[in-house]
Amino acid sequence: MELEIAPMTVKDLEEVLEIEIDSFSFPWSRNSFYTEITGNGYSYYLVCRLKDSKKIIGYGGIWTLFDEAHITTLAVHSLYRQAGIGTLIITRLIKNSLQKGAQKVFLEVRDSNREARNLYEKLQFKVIGKRKNYYLDEDALVMMRDFIETETDIKGSVSLCPDNH
Ligand SMILES: CC(C)(COP(=O)(O)OP(=O)(O)OC[C@H]1O[C@@H](n2cnc3c(N)ncnc32)[C@H](O)[C@@H]1OP(=O)(O)O)[C@@H](O)C(=O)NCCC(=O)NCCS
Repeated sequence: MELEIAPMTVKDLEEVLEIEIDSFSFPWSRNSFYTEITGNGYSYYLVCRLKDSKKIIGYGGIWTLFDEAHITTLAVHSLYRQAGIGTLIITRLIKNSLQKGAQKVFLEVRDSNREARNLYEKLQFKVIGKRKNYYLDEDALVMMRDFIETETDIKGSVSLCPDNH
């Protein structure tokens, strides 16, 4: 499966929203994505496409504010999960933030979201707290990875950053 990664543009939003609606019980609106990619100078959003058909099969976003970054969203089309695409997207997001000077990366995840928690734990994120009722129907776990000591892991490692996709 040959893939390409590119910054998310307004033209991508229809396909992104299809995955969003299928992936989350409280999906973001088109306007939320639109604002993020056109009006937020701190954000970086990516899409992952199949090289041949150009079909979007995943996306993610991150904010970088000085030495801290915050992953805002991540989703992979249900037919293409468990093939390393989530790892690929998040790794690219984090690399971008580290290049801008981030040292710590934060995210929120549903307590019950075993798939995502496993993914983040595999990338050495640790639970550092909880936000009560963050998702209206459930608490969020706050996870963080501190790259000050382990920066080279993600900047240099082939296994964490499959640039060949
Ligand atoms: C979470 C999500 C992005 C993972 O994407 P993915 O492309 O399937 O992830 P990867 O293939 O890169 O998997 C990486 C690791 O995640 C974990 N993981 C992924 N899917 C899993 C599953 N169904 N069950 C358990 N662990 C799983 C595993 O640790 C996996 O490593 P392994 O393959 O060595 O076992 C995807 O399941 C998704 O889009 N879910 C719906 C949206 C969502 O919950 N987003 C996260 C919001 S915080």
